[in-house]
Amino acid sequence: MFRSAGIRPPQTVTQYCFAGIAMGAIWLAESAVVAWYCQPTEAQIAHGRALFEHKWTENDPLSGKGDGLGPVFNATSCVECHFQGTVGGAGPNKFNVKTFEILPTKKEPLPLSGVVHASAVRPDLLESASTVRRHNPIVKNGMKVIGGCRIDIVDFDPIHYDTSNTPALFGAGQIDKIREVAIRGQSLRRSVTSLTREFDLDFKSTPTGRVRILPDGRIGKFGWKAQFATLKEFVAAACAGELGLSNHLRKQHVAQEYREDTDAELDMTRQQFAALVAYVETIPAPRRERPSDATQTTVVERGEALFSSVGCADCHIPDLDGTQGIYSDFSLHSLTDEANDGYSKVPDVPLPDDHPKLNEWKTPALWGVADSAPYFHDGGSPDLPSAIERHGGAARHVREKYRALPQPDQQALVSFLKTLRAPLP
Ligand code: HEC
Ligand code: HEC
Repeated sequence: MFRSAGIRPPQTVTQYCFAGIAMGAIWLAESAVVAWYCQPTEAQIAHGRALFEHKWTENDPLSGKGDGLGPVFNATSCVECHFQGTVGGAGPNKFNVKTFEILPTKKEPLPLSGVVHASAVRPDLLESASTVRRHNPIVKNGMKVIGGCRIDIVDFDPIHYDTSNTPALFGAGQIDKIREVAIRGQSLRRSVTSLTREFDLDFKSTPTGRVRILPDGRIGKFGWKAQFATLKEFVAAACAGELGLSNHLRKQHVAQEYREDTDAELDMTRQQFAALVAYVETIPAPRRERPSDATQTTVVERGEALFSSVGCADCHIPDLDGTQGIYSDFSLHSLTDEANDGYSKVPDVPLPDDHPKLNEWKTPALWGVADSAPYFHDGGSPDLPSAIERHGGAARHVREKYRALPQPDQQALVSFLKTLRAPLP
């Protein structure tokens, strides 16, 4: 490298040290210039917000040669779903997205995740359970069921449906900056603590979740299943998947085919896409609302202490990689108890290691949780107490400790959660 740059390579240890320091300084300066140059401008953020709020139409004038909204879509703007508290917030169940997971079969050994879009630009393009079935028929005699001494051969339905509630995007730029090493680090520390507790014959510690390693080796942080590593990639998928807007990273879907339309013209220019990302990246983080009187302050402080002592903070880790008050480990956990979930009826088909199980979900960040009801991935819990009650599986012991608290303490814990508010508009 030195020779190619026409410089005499270092000869002595001192020269090597100087060369090392000089290269380090150049790298730091370069990173600072890149960071400064890539800072979004006020104009770009404002443009991005306008695109976030824009109601897209078929052949939208903003879409250049593209076809605008659709052909299949879930809503006509980002803000239609992301609005609670203020622009960028969570959404009500009315805008839940119907998702499906195709379990592996002999013919298709890899699982496939998809969305049944709620709307289409023409009625004949509308998607439904029957259009999903067309591509994923029931496999005749596709499964062995072992019961006692009998083995029955039965038909196998590879389709599993679920539903996805809109999360808030507050502070998404800060989540994007949390480093992989911090997520892996906390997971490793947790595993060591659990192991030490088991040596002490304490088997009630919360199991460590699974950090989601994506097929390309990166860690997933965004989405209920931690299915995307970066904010930019999620925004690209949201444009294509929710609104049918092809961009340079993701294309809109072919109606009823559940695949990207590789031939589609772009509906967004690179500038429009960069502006939208710049806006989402700079949506302010949630805030902590301090109670106004001393009595309530004591209650909230007690609630915060209980949040840690009963074990909520095992998974909802308060601070991560310098981001204060985020309350997540960005790992996958299963909170379902066999008796009460819809998942135990699904055949236990082996999935690749890097693919979450049907009942595994990423611990959601609890910042802003006071303004993001309904709760859980499917919006199935209308309020905070019912969300806490739904913590079975890996969080069962923690829920038992919460249940064992006197009523005023349970209320104090919920009062603490209610101080985690959306940012001011
Ligand atoms: C139909 C409602 C709907 C619309 C419209 C919508 N979203 Fe979302 N958004 C969701 C749902 C549901 C999720 C959770 C999806 C999942 O995790 O599988 C989500 C998740 C996200 C996330 C990931 C957040 C996180 O922390 O995990 C981002 C980023 C996002 N949306 C951005 C956008 C942008 C930008 C637009 C507009 C181009 C948009 N969304 C339009 C419903 C919507
Ligand atoms: C084993 C890890 C774990 C523990 C312990 C845990 N949680 Fe959770 N929590 C999760 C996961 C995972 C979800 C999402 C589940 C889903 O969507 O299906 C969740 C969801 C939530 C939600 C809903 C948030 C939203 O945006 O929908 C709240 C509120 C919550 N937890 C509070 C608590 C409280 C309070 C405690 C302690 C009593 C606790 N959690 C203990 C992992 C955990």
